[in-house]
Amino acid sequence: MGENGAKRWNFGANEAVEESCSQNVRYFLNLLADNLDRNDGRPVIPLGHGDPSPFPSYRTDPAAVEAVCEAVRSAKFNHYSTTSGLPLARKAVAEYLSRNLSYQISPDDVHLTAGCHQAIEVLISTLAVPGANILLPCPTYPMYDSRASFSQLEIRRYDLLPENGWEVDLNAIEALADDKTAALLVINPCNPCGNVFSRQHLQKIAETASKLGILVIADEVYKDIVFGDKPFVSMAEFSEIVPVMMLGAISKRWCVPGWRFGWMVTLDPHNIMKNSGLVGSLAHVLNMSTDPTTFIQGAIPDILGKTKEDFFTSKLETLKECSDTCYEEIKKITCITCPYKPEGSMFTMVKLDLSVLEDISDDLDFCCKLAKEESLIILPGRSVGLKNWLRITFAVELELLKDGLVRLNNFAQRHTKKQP
Ligand SMILES: Cc1ncc(COP(=O)(O)O)c(C=O)c1O
Repeated sequence: MGENGAKRWNFGANEAVEESCSQNVRYFLNLLADNLDRNDGRPVIPLGHGDPSPFPSYRTDPAAVEAVCEAVRSAKFNHYSTTSGLPLARKAVAEYLSRNLSYQISPDDVHLTAGCHQAIEVLISTLAVPGANILLPCPTYPMYDSRASFSQLEIRRYDLLPENGWEVDLNAIEALADDKTAALLVINPCNPCGNVFSRQHLQKIAETASKLGILVIADEVYKDIVFGDKPFVSMAEFSEIVPVMMLGAISKRWCVPGWRFGWMVTLDPHNIMKNSGLVGSLAHVLNMSTDPTTFIQGAIPDILGKTKEDFFTSKLETLKECSDTCYEEIKKITCITCPYKPEGSMFTMVKLDLSVLEDISDDLDFCCKLAKEESLIILPGRSVGLKNWLRITFAVELELLKDGLVRLNNFAQRHTKKQP
């Protein structure tokens, strides 16, 4: 409890919150920012988080900007939203998500959220019944871990296997699950590993989850952001096998994370989620949650409908060039190795070889000293569940990326053990 002079106050820090929620990406980015040398005149190179929207090569499509302006000008979208979103926006999202699917998603199954982040909050809160557990990947997008801890939903971690192109360790899933396991999270294309799951692998995941009686949460916020050999296949294709909760947003594909527009879609052709009561509980949690901004909902039919294919093609070309450059430059740096060439999302994971370095104790020490000496921000692997690895985003302006990789190499050379 707080004390201020002689006066005692009945409130103070919440230790449970600090323990469960402090180890996320933002926490580490703030920590690294505190290590920057303010006297270094060079620009800070942000390879720690996936938001390329400030860079000219990743500017969003003018058609999307016009759609938002028009929605605001029309004065038709100044009111509160309805629960789950405005019908016109739910319909537009259902149509967009059905474009490359073998069936049509119903607007009734689409629930709109303030970015994918809020879909995670709502879903995890709904699943967190006393005694339940959830299977989360390692490495991961740690917001799921923070949210689950915060809601006292037990976390059980399964590995993604670097030697198998970061595929899910299906044996581990079977070993970890029990009759209290509510759900299994699959992030595809993957943050933080940069891989894309094949159709066959997704089917195996769906079959395993079905056998175990658990829901699949398919985080597809990087939907269609693929530039390798594998096409993007949605987990929605396997909802006949297992109930799927699909999460997504316009944040990444349109490069507008600040617009805060996402969705959560219940894919439940056999009414398993509905009959279990989960869909009803979800509606209650949505009723007491905030909504995505109404004018963005008003703009959504045009954002999704009028953005030309050229926009996506050109962004993917840029990302591919950045990803290839990143992969090649990493090969020249002796203390890190990349086990798998990225083929989607905006990230890659690289393994740190501490044995060749002097005066670096671990991944966090590496990243703090890197921020201080080179004004370069890279995320320590521990923030996504893998100690002594690093997560690098390549989604920045190409020239800046090249500069960042030169700085990384210089840093690595300076800290490499000298031959006697
Ligand atoms: C895997 C994953 N899921 C969800 C989110 C949150 O998305 P949004 O920015 O739409 O809230 C992110 C953001 O980086 C992410 O990487």
